[in-house]
This record gives sequence, C-alpha cells and structure tokens, in this order.
Amino acid sequence: MLEEREIISGTARRANLVTRPRRTRRTENLRRMVRETHLSVDNFIYPLFIAESIKEEVEISSMPGVYRWPVERVAREAETIAALGIPAVLLFGIPDFKDAVGTEAYNPNGVVQAAVREIKKAVPELVVITDVCLCEYTDHGHCGVLDASGYVLNDPTLDLLSKMALSHAEAGADIIAPSDMMDGRIGAIRAALDEGGFENTPIMAYSAKYASGFYGPFREAADSAPAFGDRRSYQMDPPNAREALREVELDIAEGADMIMVKPALAYLDVIARVKDRFDLPLAAYNVSGEYSMLKAAAKMGWLDEERVVRESLTAIKRAGADMIITYHAKEAARWLKS
Ligand code: PBG
Repeated sequence: MLEEREIISGTARRANLVTRPRRTRRTENLRRMVRETHLSVDNFIYPLFIAESIKEEVEISSMPGVYRWPVERVAREAETIAALGIPAVLLFGIPDFKDAVGTEAYNPNGVVQAAVREIKKAVPELVVITDVCLCEYTDHGHCGVLDASGYVLNDPTLDLLSKMALSHAEAGADIIAPSDMMDGRIGAIRAALDEGGFENTPIMAYSAKYASGFYGPFREAADSAPAFGDRRSYQMDPPNAREALREVELDIAEGADMIMVKPALAYLDVIARVKDRFDLPLAAYNVSGEYSMLKAAAKMGWLDEERVVRESLTAIKRAGADMIITYHAKEAARWLKS
C-alpha cells in the first residue's frame, strides 16, 4: 500500500506508460487545440410556429421559451433570430380552418404563405425554409388523404403536397422541406417546382423520419395530433437503420438537395451511417420532446441546462450533422457568443 505522504509528495513510483491520453487534457488551451468538433451558430436552424387569429405570441406549455406567433409579429421575431447570427428558420403553420384534404395548406394567402412574405420583406437575407406536410391542415390530423378505412393514400397525397410546396415557393420560401414521408414526394415536388419556374429552389428532404414518441410536445404546439391511430404506416419504424439508407438513396435519386434524419438524439447512429454513405448536406432535427426533456430536468434543478444542451448539440454534430434544427438555437447562439 502506498503511503498518503508518498502520493502527495510525488515520490510514489511512476508506472512506465508511453501513451497517456490525459497529457492533452490538462488545460483548457490544450483541450481547445485538440478539439475535434466545433459547434457554430452557422449550424443552427430555428423552428417557428405561426398561428392564425391570435393577436399576441402564446407560449407553448410543454415547450417553455417556444411560442406560437401571429403573422403580424413574426417579422420582429425573425429580426431577433437573424441578429443572433442564426442563418435560417423553419416555418410551421397552424390554420383556423381544417378539412379532410388540407385545403388551407395551399391557400396562397394561408398562414405560412403570409408569414414567408412578412419575413422576407423584413429580413431578406434570413433563409426561410417551409415544412411541407398536411397534418396541421387536415381535420383528422394525418399527413395525407384517407380512404374509407382510414388508410393514408400515397399517390393522391402527392398532388396536394406538390401544390403546397409550389405555393410556398411562390410566397418566397428559400427551401422546401417535405416531412410527410409519402413515397415519391421528392420527385413529385421537384417536378412541380421546376414546372412553376422554381428550378433553383432547393429541397431539404426529411428522408429518414421515424414514427417517434419524441414528437409529443410538437403536436400540442402545432395542433397536429392524429385524431385516430398513429403514423406508423408512413413514418419509419424506429428499429430500422438500413432502411434509412434506402430512404435517403431514393430521395437523392428523386432530386433532394439536402437530407435529414429525425429525431436526432435517439438516432445518432443513423446520422453517422447516413453521413458515412452520402455526400449531401445532412440535417438532423433535434425534436420537441428532446427539447422538453432537457427543459423539464433543468427546471427541476436536476441538470445544468447550458452544459447538457451544448453537449447534446455537439453530439449531433459529432455524429455527422451539418445542420441542426433545434428549439435551443436562440439560447445556444447566445452561449456561443459569450
Ligand atoms: C409534421 C411534422 C412533425 C414534426 C415536424 N414536422 C410531427 C409529426 O410528424 O407528427 C415534429 C417536430 C418536433 O417534434 O419537434 N409532419
């Protein structure tokens, strides 16, 4: 047994180690020099919810710090986001009127179309991405049209998604992001955009989107929970990773410019595998439930919020994401500045 005094005075015998990884961890500057992953505000995309017929922003109870915005106020918020150095926002609409085929989704004066125009007028340089999916616009809450048995029909949904995408581009959207998971939607939307004269508008495909329990708070935020059943007949089955590669491959073949894995934290292995195989810019969606978990634990005093958010976002980037869609973007941008 070593004597305590031998240990403290440094006279205890040294092990003869050639390699000591701890050498480069001794000081912050040494750690900085060998750091492999750098989080940057350049990587962030901030989601925004725009609601019809509200006068003021309303906080979403399950997502503290995240709001539903009225069209009239969203430009001010966009200015704040741009001033923080965040390059892009991702818009979701919450219309008053819903029907079986999501008619409001392709209304040229719909809530998202109006918000795009307001934001582009106020902050033209901010990249505006729009989520294309029918679930916020259908009265049944599914991401497509239904047959008599309640099954989501694939091909008839493609036409509606194409109309929706085109109306977003016409309103001035910079990037179109389809999140519905219908087969063939990237090809259909690409053709509709090209035909409408928007051959330069990129598509960010939610290629590997899983049927995840982590979307819970979003469905409150966007009022898009399915009225019956679930999304397992169109979104991916969580145990599958090889299938994600196939989904990505198909989207690229159909003309996707950017690809996405969603959610992020429970699917870091999928992010890494997609990154390994494909060269397109890769986004990861750090979804609502992943945000709410950390917020709730921080509120209870169980976790140091800044520390765990930085660690989580860094993990998503280390796994291979080039872009991170995250509700933490504004806070993280402030932390990265200070
Ligand atoms: C719409 C859509 C969803 C999310 C993004 N787009 C919800 C869903 O598929 O049920 C989830 C985003 C989040 O949880 O933060 N289809």
